[in-house]
Amino acid sequence: MNTPATASETVRRRYNRSARFYDTEQKMMERVAGRWRRELWSRVPGGEVLEVGVGTGANMPFYPAGAHITAIDIAENMLARAGARAAKLGLDVDLDRMDAEHLDFADGRFDSVVATFVFCSVPDPVAGLQEARRVLKPGGVLLLMEHVRSQNPLLGKLMDILNPVVVRVAGANINRHTVDNVRTAGFEEVSVSSHLRGIVKLIEARK
Ligand SMILES: C[S@@+](CC[C@H](N)C(=O)[O-])C[C@H]1O[C@@H](n2cnc3c(N)ncnc32)[C@H](O)[C@@H]1O
Repeated sequence: MNTPATASETVRRRYNRSARFYDTEQKMMERVAGRWRRELWSRVPGGEVLEVGVGTGANMPFYPAGAHITAIDIAENMLARAGARAAKLGLDVDLDRMDAEHLDFADGRFDSVVATFVFCSVPDPVAGLQEARRVLKPGGVLLLMEHVRSQNPLLGKLMDILNPVVVRVAGANINRHTVDNVRTAGFEEVSVSSHLRGIVKLIEARK
């Protein structure tokens, strides 16, 4: 069995390997996800913003003007692509390699923390969400777009059965209870909207 440190290293290696194919693989999905990204980022009030798990920078076109964005990822090859995308878009983004479970920022540093399709692959999602909460100012906002376990009993069960295979092949868990995890991490005023028959959730919560 992996220790937590090894689990994060496994995720890092996996995304480092897949970085150069990532955007091509996601192209179809982005036709739909682009709308959800726009919706999510329209709720970011500006100020100091942390994006966790920036990947190749798919959210960058939606960053709000006037916000100062710090973006982290565990995989340096994903970050390199994010850096190239920021340059292409003329954005000034502070990019850092960091583990969501161990953020190297002071308590209460950010007005908002945003992540999209990240907490499915963070090995200990509650630990990562607790870190997101720690670095938020009191009253700060968490905004997530995540795929989660279906509430349909049959589909949910199927996701449970398939999950070990999907984790092995793609590194992402398809049966996470991310809304519950947000509450467990201590967030309040949790509001959720659903897409794709409830499998994709837009989650907004406050510290
Ligand atoms: C499915 S990709 C999503 C990328 C991007 N947010 C998007 O919406 O396209 C997941 C990203 O989370 C990053 N990631 C996974 N675990 C992480 C962790 N513990 N800390 C920081 N980043 C992590 C991966 O390296 C990868 O870039």
